[in-house]
Amino acid sequence: MTRAFPLEPSDEELRRLLDDAVRRVALHIGSLSSQPADGTAGAEGAGALARSLIEREAPEDPTPAGPLLDLLFEKAIPASFNNAGPGFLAYVPGGGQPYAAVADLISSAVNRYVGVFAPAPALVQLETNVIRWLARAVGYPESAGGFLTSGGSLANFSAVVAARHEKLPENFLKGTLYVSDQGHHCIRKAALLAGFPDANVREIPSDAAFRMRLDALANRVAADRAEGFTPFLVAASAGTVNTGAVDDLDALADFAGRENLWLHTDAAYGGFFALTSRGRAAMSGLQRADSIVLDPHKGLFMPYGTGSLLVKDPAALRRSHSVRAHYMPGMQDDPDCVDFCEISPELSRNFRGLAVWLAVKLCGLAAFRASLDEKLDLAREAVEAVREIPGMTIVAEPELSLFAFRLTVPGASRAETNRLNRDLLDRVNARQRVFLTGTLLGEDFAIRMCILSFRTHADRVHMALEDLRGAAQEIAHAAPKE
Ligand SMILES: Cc1ncc(COP(=O)(O)O)c(C=O)c1O
Repeated sequence: MTRAFPLEPSDEELRRLLDDAVRRVALHIGSLSSQPADGTAGAEGAGALARSLIEREAPEDPTPAGPLLDLLFEKAIPASFNNAGPGFLAYVPGGGQPYAAVADLISSAVNRYVGVFAPAPALVQLETNVIRWLARAVGYPESAGGFLTSGGSLANFSAVVAARHEKLPENFLKGTLYVSDQGHHCIRKAALLAGFPDANVREIPSDAAFRMRLDALANRVAADRAEGFTPFLVAASAGTVNTGAVDDLDALADFAGRENLWLHTDAAYGGFFALTSRGRAAMSGLQRADSIVLDPHKGLFMPYGTGSLLVKDPAALRRSHSVRAHYMPGMQDDPDCVDFCEISPELSRNFRGLAVWLAVKLCGLAAFRASLDEKLDLAREAVEAVREIPGMTIVAEPELSLFAFRLTVPGASRAETNRLNRDLLDRVNARQRVFLTGTLLGEDFAIRMCILSFRTHADRVHMALEDLRGAAQEIAHAAPKE
């Protein structure tokens, strides 16, 4: 019997499947702006759909492609956040750059081995170029290095491992690390995975602008030294996920230098704004960190699965990540020829650098810079318009492209105000043109707007503002009159 899908398809079979998939992808991308902003909110229920798809056994027999692609494009994909669409202003928007998707198809199809230099020198060189471009973007010297990983969380993990290795003895449990109460929770997870008990992670309070308080940091470091701990790492934020706050990177670099601490900056959200002059000014001192996390799948609009760790001294990564084995090919001594397995946790890995390389080559870096500048403009325009809505208070001004705000009603209790703002958020999201999320700042619930998608332009931000005004008016009319 001829199998409908032999493991190795014929040319014709492969082309037919690709054509069908590509046709559907193009239709999907073409309709992103008219798709609901949150497809999980539909009547059928994304959760119910998920349950209906539970399948305990893999099928022994082949299934035709058409129904499988129908299931994906007509049911499963629509029943999700439209986070690649222009209305996604929630959390930190990811990208979904189509040229990068083409690169992902190519890299999976050719399936070359890029964890080591020797098996694919030219391809590894392309990914090394990407690292050079990122290092230059943050103002690092030519000698800097780093690697691409699956995302910000793993990149932050390797930064903690490198810092631990450089600054602490093998028995490192006296080591303490410092992150503000606004830092991303992946720093805490990175510490945990790197072997530190939670108690070794010191949470430093932030100031009224949500930046790490230097006085509190200095006091805590001094107190820890006095108690016999070994402070070794400060994790700064260049764009927090809560409010977009950028820590005082210059002051932290001065402090870290004086105290012999490794300064790491989590710039997963904000880092690519360093390609713009306003972003560079907002993140002054970024290049002074020993290591920096940048997420191309955020600020460079790549598909999910592309994070990066940059370090000023690549030898530190090698010292903390290199393990040799006899069956491996020879590693390179030339600093221009990088074996990624020597400086990162992974051995076999996808060729994620091709996505960044192809997209940047095809579009030119200037197009990315211009898009990021546009986001800075849009955030400034949006914050001014939100300020004008009666009752609205800006809780965090945009340092980059994220700001936070809340509706306040004179005399309302904190609980009542929080409830009103959750209601406001639900009403905006129910309109399905944009998707926003909130957060707790202390005990106050605030709504955030994070403008980062390359697909978000002024028209969509105007829709967000219209929907906010409309929802705020509805709430004002619904409020009981005195
Ligand atoms: C500031 C910051 N750091 C780290 C991360 C974690 O990155 P990832 O989700 O790519 O692991 C995020 C994710 O949004 C973030 O905003």
